[in-house]
Amino acid sequence: MLPKKLQHKLDKRSNDNSLRTLTPQRDLVDFSSNDYLGFARDKGIYDRAHEILQKNNLYCNGSSGSRLLSGNHALFAFAEAELAKFYNAADALIFNSGYDANVGFFSAVPQRGDVILYDELVHASIRDGIQMSLAKAYKFKHNDVQDLEQKLRKLSVAMQVYVVTESVFSMDGDSPNLRKMARICDGEFAHLIVDEAHAAGVLGRGHGLVEDLALSQRVFARLVTFGKAMGCHGAAILCDADLKSFLVNFARSLIYTTALPPHAVATIIAGHEALNGMGGNSTSPVSLLQDNIQFFKSQLPVFNLQSLFITGDSAIQSAIISGNERVKEVSEKLKLEGFSVLPILSPTVPAGDERLRFCLHSYNSQEEIKTVLALLAKFVG
Ligand SMILES: Cc1ncc(COP(=O)(O)O)c(C=O)c1O
Repeated sequence: MLPKKLQHKLDKRSNDNSLRTLTPQRDLVDFSSNDYLGFARDKGIYDRAHEILQKNNLYCNGSSGSRLLSGNHALFAFAEAELAKFYNAADALIFNSGYDANVGFFSAVPQRGDVILYDELVHASIRDGIQMSLAKAYKFKHNDVQDLEQKLRKLSVAMQVYVVTESVFSMDGDSPNLRKMARICDGEFAHLIVDEAHAAGVLGRGHGLVEDLALSQRVFARLVTFGKAMGCHGAAILCDADLKSFLVNFARSLIYTTALPPHAVATIIAGHEALNGMGGNSTSPVSLLQDNIQFFKSQLPVFNLQSLFITGDSAIQSAIISGNERVKEVSEKLKLEGFSVLPILSPTVPAGDERLRFCLHSYNSQEEIKTVLALLAKFVG
């Protein structure tokens, strides 16, 4: 039996229609996974990762320890150098996941007396890291550069200020005006940190939005994750060598955990090699994904659905359907028709902003896109 307080919390979730369960995956048309480029099941990447392991004589199943102890196998240094090159950063530091990277970064970097300004919709991993920090933290309105500027101006110039946003928001799929934010942060001596979890592999021919806008030298740090477009696992903080050294010394989620096994790092290398090899090729998964994003958006007016959707140019296209019960019902109906489009419930998003989140992929066909939107129009009409 659960302690009473815990049971009460679970009961509340049930009553609010927001109880989460772990359900087995079914073979449905995929509008829900983060495997934007189909890399998670790419045989070429799988084979290449094995080749990398064999060439490096890494016949092992695990890393055997923390990166600071026995776990820092040979592939890490190579992978980090390749990542730094690919994303045009001075250096890179691999963490076990994006969650670990954000928690490690925000709990370690901003110090007591510093200030963190964060977009009100940043990912839970950033919030959790901020909660562990001794710095003061204030949110600014979502993608509202003016609000950010006003808040920055109220701070003393003597303070260290960290500003954090995402280049593609995970629930809304929209993006901030990063150029403006970088200009404001430059002017106010604030350090800009950008989470590119949903932009890496998708925007800027795979290099992310920061690099696409030529802002790589103007951000303090970027996060790229490999469980989404890269189809594998892990993450990296892109930063300069000094910040990397600081994180190696103080980011507890890097220090006090077993490092990624060699095959995970080999897959990260193989995925980036594949991305690098694609260049501007119009039939590459990156181009096909971009075509599908544009096609999806072009179909919204055809089905009179544009007012439901949050505007964005990313692989995440979200339709607001208020109420946990209602959005779950629409998702269930789509499932019965063979489509996986997942509902995002409150409290993950604010009550009233519940939504159906369409994740688009290089491998979705135009026919699938038209069919799922026609069904959506029927179910919400
Ligand atoms: C914006 C953002 N940052 C960080 C993460 C965490 O990444 P990971 O899945 O690698 O832990 C996610 C994953 O959902 C995300 O959406």
